[in-house]
Amino acid sequence: MTAQLRMSEPTIVKVALDDRSYDIMIGRGVIASLGERIKALRPDAKAAIVTDSAVAKLHLAAAEKSLHASGITVSSIEVPPGEASKSYATFEKVCEALIAARIERDDLVIALGGGVIGDLAGFAAAAVRRGLDYVQVPTTLLAQVDSSVGGKTGIDSPQGKNLIGAFHQPVLVIADTALLDTLPKREFAAGYAEVVKYGLLGDAGFFSWLEANWNDVFAGGPGREHAIAMCCRAKAAIVARDERETGERALLNLGHTFGHAFEAAAGFSGRLLHGEAVGLGIALAFEFSAKRGLLDNDSVARVKRHLAAVGLPTAPRELQGPLPDIDRLMALISQDKKVKRGKLTFILVRGIGQAFVERDVDPAQVRAFLNEKLGGK
Ligand SMILES: NC(=O)c1ccc[n+]([C@@H]2O[C@H](COP(=O)([O-])OP(=O)(O)OC[C@H]3O[C@@H](n4cnc5c(N)ncnc54)[C@H](O)[C@@H]3O)[C@@H](O)[C@H]2O)c1
Ligand SMILES: [Zn+2]
Repeated sequence: MTAQLRMSEPTIVKVALDDRSYDIMIGRGVIASLGERIKALRPDAKAAIVTDSAVAKLHLAAAEKSLHASGITVSSIEVPPGEASKSYATFEKVCEALIAARIERDDLVIALGGGVIGDLAGFAAAAVRRGLDYVQVPTTLLAQVDSSVGGKTGIDSPQGKNLIGAFHQPVLVIADTALLDTLPKREFAAGYAEVVKYGLLGDAGFFSWLEANWNDVFAGGPGREHAIAMCCRAKAAIVARDERETGERALLNLGHTFGHAFEAAAGFSGRLLHGEAVGLGIALAFEFSAKRGLLDNDSVARVKRHLAAVGLPTAPRELQGPLPDIDRLMALISQDKKVKRGKLTFILVRGIGQAFVERDVDPAQVRAFLNEKLGGK
């Protein structure tokens, strides 16, 4: 499935974090060089691939083939696909399987999958033997542009998403853009919300480029590799300046405060994917910023037009099923962002490509705004 010819030389983006620096290799067919790259990094390492059963059917053979060709001993650990695998139970299963496969400090864990696998396998790597090195081989658009870069790993608690985790940077990221050819269109569009986010938060030129080239990104032309590289460069630069999110890294949460509230209200179900919630959240963050007089309505309309063109929701009324209750949404928003001195923190915008952290948002203003968006219920 992935044995297509490489179209061009891969793009390499460096994440500069002193002795924890690493490369992101992006391109069509780069999974074929996984073994070679690992051999160069860790000549005597064994590897354990952690993946989900859906990805395993499509892409495990290509990963194993490349590792075998470089003479690397490989074992594999499969978990069920879906967010439910970011659980204590599956974490235990993965840790025990890594120990049973005798993966030690000089060996490597390989996360082959979407953000669920990257977060789960990365966290298992952080914990087993007090820290194993790991390689990210992201297979969803969301994972290639966001979750595989930056070292946030973790699982969910019954009390909330991503509450158990660690910062643990990978030693290498191999983002094969051809693997996305098998991704369902809906998952691709959801991941694309994060792509748009990078343009909107800090790079107006990239947003204009996306408006003109999104079809090529979806179709898997050279634009796809360019878009992914742009996102990785943007994330790498932000992470290099603020690895532990004490400041600027928070900008990556553009659209996520509103988005998470709708995602949680929908029960983290297939009804609303994370990226779809982010698309909606971005539209709401732009509208809310306009309401505060920060930017003009034309920019808001332009952003919503682009999100809608790729099939992302831009208003609560477009969501399937019953709309969430305003009290529930407000409770979720204050839980997500912690009310400090009676105020909420939001990522707002002064224009396309000009996001900033606003720590002084009055919850009553958010409630009035959302109430209006929910149709005055
Ligand atoms: N660590 C971070 O910085 C960070 C950032 C953003 C999101 N996340 C996490 O990422 C997770 C979401 O990631 P996701 O959207 O990639 O979800 P996912 O890993 O669940 O993948 C989505 C679905 O696509 C399938 N799939 C994966 N690759 C495929 C391929 N190439 N072809 C066909 N099907 C494929 C999977 O089996 C799964 O069913 C969430 O848990 C979120 O919390 C983490
Ligand atoms: Zn996100």
